[in-house]
Amino acid sequence: MKIILLYGGRSEEHDVSILSAYSILKAVYYNYYKVQLVFISKEGQWVEGPLLTEAPKSEDILHLTWDTSGERTEGFTGKVIQPGAIQKDEEEIIVFPVLHGPNGEDGTIQGFLETINVPYVGAGVLTSACAMDKIMTKYILQAAGVPQVPYVPVLESQWKENPRKVFEQCEGSLLYPMFIKPANMGSSVGITRAENREELQNGLAEAYRFDSRAIVEQGIEAREIEVAVLGNEDVRTTLPGEIVKDVAFYDYNSKYIDNKITMQIPAEIPEDVQEKAQKYAKIAYRMLGGSGLSRCDFFLTNKNELFLNELNTMPGFTQFSMYPVLWENTGLKYSDLIEELIQLGIN
Ligand code: DAL
Ligand code: MG
Repeated sequence: MKIILLYGGRSEEHDVSILSAYSILKAVYYNYYKVQLVFISKEGQWVEGPLLTEAPKSEDILHLTWDTSGERTEGFTGKVIQPGAIQKDEEEIIVFPVLHGPNGEDGTIQGFLETINVPYVGAGVLTSACAMDKIMTKYILQAAGVPQVPYVPVLESQWKENPRKVFEQCEGSLLYPMFIKPANMGSSVGITRAENREELQNGLAEAYRFDSRAIVEQGIEAREIEVAVLGNEDVRTTLPGEIVKDVAFYDYNSKYIDNKITMQIPAEIPEDVQEKAQKYAKIAYRMLGGSGLSRCDFFLTNKNELFLNELNTMPGFTQFSMYPVLWENTGLKYSDLIEELIQLGIN
């Protein structure tokens, strides 16, 4: 059987996807599977790379270069394909879309794969789309009675039409500091913290660079707690882990560039809080129609109030990322986790 590893992507999280893809490649059971690399460039071109029958020695293989004239430039070459061409194989295949953020984790790729009838790992169209949109997620979780931090959705059109009203709405229901986030994005891209009106205005401008839908949230002093969820009908959760930061705000640089975080697994929190986090993670996963996997992120205040922040349907997947490490802690090793995800995708 063949796995098509779809990675890269037309997303700000393109590079994170490459890191996740390399870890997955190293852990595939090559006695069961061959892996076809299919890279999506930042411009959205699909490039078919080599077919692997063993783990690559270096991450370089993932940085495919290509040339439509077929001439080799540098690094490994691949050829540009029409996306639908991945279906051509006689052999049984499954796609592993290890894509983070818009145009990959948001239902677009999932919808495409549905239309060409190719099975894939992870969440379906509706779940991916709703979980990627922070406003939709809030509405759904609100209906399910899952606690969340206070928020105000602000569309770019509303902001342009009446900024004063937006200030009044935000300041009427939230206190500074506030966090301003694009509704569709991951890895903290486009998120800013505002202490005052001027920073709120700048934060909205920054968020609208990425999405015309933004959300303003109440900033709270809280720990970040994450639960890994796995399954289709039968849903399993791990004990929560904690992201321990030595920075005020865990942004893209501290996540991926400066390595300014460590993980505490399991999180040192009271047992009833652990159980509550697992319960809410399961409710949220089910309400959003989850399948395959998700990482469910919470805020925990020093009064032990728990707020669900978001679900990531294709969480960071390097060997050091929270999602697989949470499962390792339960005894499910990285390779077996991948195998389980493939089986969940086929069934
Ligand atoms: N969006 C990143 C990859 C994460 O949630 O882990
Ligand atoms: Mg998060």
